[in-house]
Amino acid sequence: MSFDLVLFGGTGDLTWRKLMPALFQAFRHGKLPEGGRLIAVARDERTDEQYRAFIKERFAEVDSSKQPSDEEFARFAELLHYRRMDLSRPEDYAGLKDAINARGAHTVVLFLATSPHLFPQICAQLGAVGLNGLNVRVVLEKPLGHDLASAQEINRVVRAAFDENQALRIDHYLGKPAVQNLSALRFGNALFEPLWRRESIANIQITLAERLGVGTRGDYYDTTGALRDMVQNHALQLLTMIAMEPPPTNDANCIRDEKLKVLRSLKPFTPEGVARDVIRGQYRAGTVDGKAVVGYLDEVKVPAASACETFVALRTEVQNWRWAGVPFYLRTGKRMAVPEAQIVINFREVPHPIFPGASRANKLVIKLQPEDGLELHLLAAKGSATSGSGTSEVLAPVSLDLDFDKAFSSHRVGAYERLLLDAIAGRLNLFVRSDEQEQAWRWVEPVLEAWRNDATGPRPYAAGTWGPAAASALVARDGFAWSEEQ
Ligand code: BG6
Repeated sequence: MSFDLVLFGGTGDLTWRKLMPALFQAFRHGKLPEGGRLIAVARDERTDEQYRAFIKERFAEVDSSKQPSDEEFARFAELLHYRRMDLSRPEDYAGLKDAINARGAHTVVLFLATSPHLFPQICAQLGAVGLNGLNVRVVLEKPLGHDLASAQEINRVVRAAFDENQALRIDHYLGKPAVQNLSALRFGNALFEPLWRRESIANIQITLAERLGVGTRGDYYDTTGALRDMVQNHALQLLTMIAMEPPPTNDANCIRDEKLKVLRSLKPFTPEGVARDVIRGQYRAGTVDGKAVVGYLDEVKVPAASACETFVALRTEVQNWRWAGVPFYLRTGKRMAVPEAQIVINFREVPHPIFPGASRANKLVIKLQPEDGLELHLLAAKGSATSGSGTSEVLAPVSLDLDFDKAFSSHRVGAYERLLLDAIAGRLNLFVRSDEQEQAWRWVEPVLEAWRNDATGPRPYAAGTWGPAAASALVARDGFAWSEEQ
């Protein structure tokens, strides 16, 4: 199946850091369909050869285990082409269309790896020159808006040129292998389904913790914050995958319909609810991995008096029959103690303990990164102990561990690799539909609004910790603790 993949923003960070390495991995492992052409588009003048040299140089900065040999790169480079475009000039779009039509590829994927403020302009121009036929798909990278109104405006402009099924909104968390495993765990196995409900589950915790600070992205981050950057999209998408009902088929729209129902069932925030159930924090100087690091306010391109949150913890509920009353805790932050993304399903304790001192409940840990695996925590008999009241069994916590990298020794497809391959193949399951995205904005908006009206700002926390103490109190209030504290 021949394809043209056009990368707008062809010299930008996203392209060389994530997209090109992912495309190279797909190529190296024989997953990229034959007959492909990768066309990078950017503003400056370059030849194909100069662009190939640029990408080769940048590859040196990516993970060393993923580096191509000279021979591998030479073969990959044959797919790479460069095209200069001024994105405001209609003639340049017409030229791109001619170049694409001249080859007549079966599929055309237009990946907008540019700043989002250019999306409306690019989509309108693509529509105007007719580069929106049925074989064309457009891929949009976040941030897709900064609130509901701006997201709706982007969707309106995109929809004027492309059908919903042609517009692929990326949430790269959905491309992570662990997230596909979550779907497989729930809908490919009958084991957990009877337990996957309020009667058996005490609470659910989603933690997306990063050790890194904002780095050189201070200007972007400061107008975004953790709620928009991680919660509105990644954390909520994970929540929908955990809470959704089994879809009737594995078809993209069946899955998206179920995810949308979850988003619509989330308990809406009132101003009092935000004050009670949402904690925001901002990192101060501290020690991370043995090294002293500066606080957020001293990062480059961050205003000295910024009230931007680098940490959010919140409690919500999914208000339906399956989940009524079960707390869902979401937590994400920069400069956390440990780089770790995981979902913890905490089951209820036994109704009537007969073993002394053993009240620890079972939990299922779905690990997204750094490792990708599953852990089922159980209690097992360790031996016996004798006390005044006789001899009794001593139980100790043990876990069943599944490491997917070990279980599947073949190459595991990374998030961007998977999403790019799906975009080329037209598989939409892992892309976010506009109504899901807008519903997620609708849900976070009262939080943004309440924060705007609250001058107290984020709570400080030392870099290299698990965030403000209030985040622990949020969970402790219900009689629980964050998983790492148990
Ligand atoms: C991005 C955010 O969407 O996700 C970044 O904009 C964040 O701020 C990144 O660092 C985290 O992704 P991952 O895959 O490294 O967990």
